[in-house]
Amino acid sequence: MHKKENLYYPSEEVKKNANINNEEVYNKGGEDPISFWEERANDIVWREKWKESFSHNPPYFSWFSGGKLNITESFLDANKESDKTAVLFLPEPEEEGEKKISYKELYKEVNRFANALKSAGVKKGDPVGIYMPMIPEAVVAMLACARIGAMHTVVFSAFSSSALRIRMQDTSAKVLITADGYYRGGRVNNLKESADEGVKETSIEKVVVANRVNNEVSLNEKDVWWSDFIKDQPDELEAQEMDSEDPMFILYTSGSTGKPKGVIHTCGGYAVQTKATAKMIFDMKEDDIFWSMADIGWITGHTYTVYAPLICGATMVLFEGVPNWPQADRWASIIDDYKVSIFYTAPTAIRMFKMQTKEVKNELSSLRILGSVGEPIDEVSWEWFFREVGKERCPVVDTWWQTETGGVLITSLPGVGPFRPTFTGRPLPGVKFDILDSEGNSVPANKEGDLVIMPPFTPGMLRGLYKNEEKYIKTYFTEHGESIFYTSDTAYKDDNGLVRIVGRADDVIKVAGHRLTTGELENAITKNESVAECAVAGIKDEIKGEVPVAFLVLKEEREKEELHEEIAEKLRKDIGPIALIKNIYIVSDIPKTRSGKMMRRVIKKLFTGEDLGDLSTLSNPESVEILKEAIKKDE
Ligand code: WTA
Repeated sequence: MHKKENLYYPSEEVKKNANINNEEVYNKGGEDPISFWEERANDIVWREKWKESFSHNPPYFSWFSGGKLNITESFLDANKESDKTAVLFLPEPEEEGEKKISYKELYKEVNRFANALKSAGVKKGDPVGIYMPMIPEAVVAMLACARIGAMHTVVFSAFSSSALRIRMQDTSAKVLITADGYYRGGRVNNLKESADEGVKETSIEKVVVANRVNNEVSLNEKDVWWSDFIKDQPDELEAQEMDSEDPMFILYTSGSTGKPKGVIHTCGGYAVQTKATAKMIFDMKEDDIFWSMADIGWITGHTYTVYAPLICGATMVLFEGVPNWPQADRWASIIDDYKVSIFYTAPTAIRMFKMQTKEVKNELSSLRILGSVGEPIDEVSWEWFFREVGKERCPVVDTWWQTETGGVLITSLPGVGPFRPTFTGRPLPGVKFDILDSEGNSVPANKEGDLVIMPPFTPGMLRGLYKNEEKYIKTYFTEHGESIFYTSDTAYKDDNGLVRIVGRADDVIKVAGHRLTTGELENAITKNESVAECAVAGIKDEIKGEVPVAFLVLKEEREKEELHEEIAEKLRKDIGPIALIKNIYIVSDIPKTRSGKMMRRVIKKLFTGEDLGDLSTLSNPESVEILKEAIKKDE
């Protein structure tokens, strides 16, 4: 890599080997995005070619309609005789050693489980809950759903039983796949207990339990061990034929209100986009060992931990544990020991690695590309990642995307560049984007505005929110009209056209890269009997990027420590440990607009010392001073 002014460019060595190393693809993608994606679509296995590449009936759109396929045929059937490792499973306890699952074995395992699901009555189009840790059975479960055309709905295993219940109630799933527990940070977690709680008051009729840690679990009437469930099931099964536009999976994410929404992705477009982006952005090739640290409970875990490496015929690393446990540099040892060639992680992890391991002693010579995702990365962390991990040899792709976009849409390509720390980069070829002011005009360089995606959008973008059409329209296709997808992110471009993400314009906060909304937290907090009113805001944190704090107006006098503990417990129970609240401030009033809307923008700025801006819309401007006092008192 070499640097010219403030930009980095790939070396000749990187360029020589890259799938893409010149501007031509950008020109093609810019001129005619539809034919650009059509070309990419020829790279996956179709049973029948599509009839219409793109069609748009605002706010709805479709890609490759009429095409028939099953995503699993592109990698399971295609490699069913192959002994190459598909899944490299690294358990948390090191003494357990790694487990390699070849493509051939994966094909059989998936078919066995898919046959069992079918025997249990699961049909094409049915939602299936997956509440599992990072173990091979989780991957098998996801792929088995895809194989029979059932919609997997993965719920992050660190989410609480209540969070699981809300999602299962919303989908009305009949089957849940879970595990007895998992290892994490030296502890054995009892996942089955949460699952038992979570399926109460839902329509779940069957719970399949994988045995991971030999936890003592009580099997209820609905429960069946994984091993019994697949017993005598054949390891052959013809994949269910799907239409390109059939839904493939649902993934719940946090939006502007307290209730999570089920983002729907479809079969054809998602498959095409996943393969195309992996080949472009990570320069993925069949001999790569790709380690994406993201948990399967998040979109990154779906697209890049699981589907991308498989659909590219590469090897995916599936790591169960915490990357800095039991040694701070376990992540670096993993890279060396297993010759990881592409490493995809998040700024929070990078900041943690940097804090704990200033100088990385490992060689890390197998690495060729580094990636970052989920939150803005600061310059110091970017430089550290580039120097200490990539040894100034590996391009760092800072990838911008969302649960809704299904795959990365903005980042500079490793063989082309340029890279500028803290800037996510250029839109991918085939992606039309813009940055607009509130009137809908494109803003000039270096001016902030709303990041939007323009038609023809991209094949892998969401097609709806489960059972919530109104919200789909309101959230994505109202702010700038029904033909422009609004991302809810604020961004600007530099003079070279590189995009910098400033942050969310809505109530979403990113805690250690995990997407939460202030509304969800407020819902849980106001259930506390002492709390009359509450406002949650994300404030800057050295390691986690952002952490939530709460301002509370109380009905009665309470001791702060005790109340904080009560609230923390409630958040753990309603959402999970990621909703850990950093601080609470007891105040007599909270800034609100005349219409009663909480002014979070103002609250956030109280911590950064920024100018508070126009306060004339507040009905109670004096409350700002009250908050200031409370923050000062606590310092
Ligand atoms: C933020 C994660 C800065 C952004 C894949 C977006 C980023 C939200 C980046 C989506 C990045 C994602 N730089 N911010 N490279 N990538 N974001 O749905 O605010 O969990 O809207 O998807 O994360 O979060 P989600």
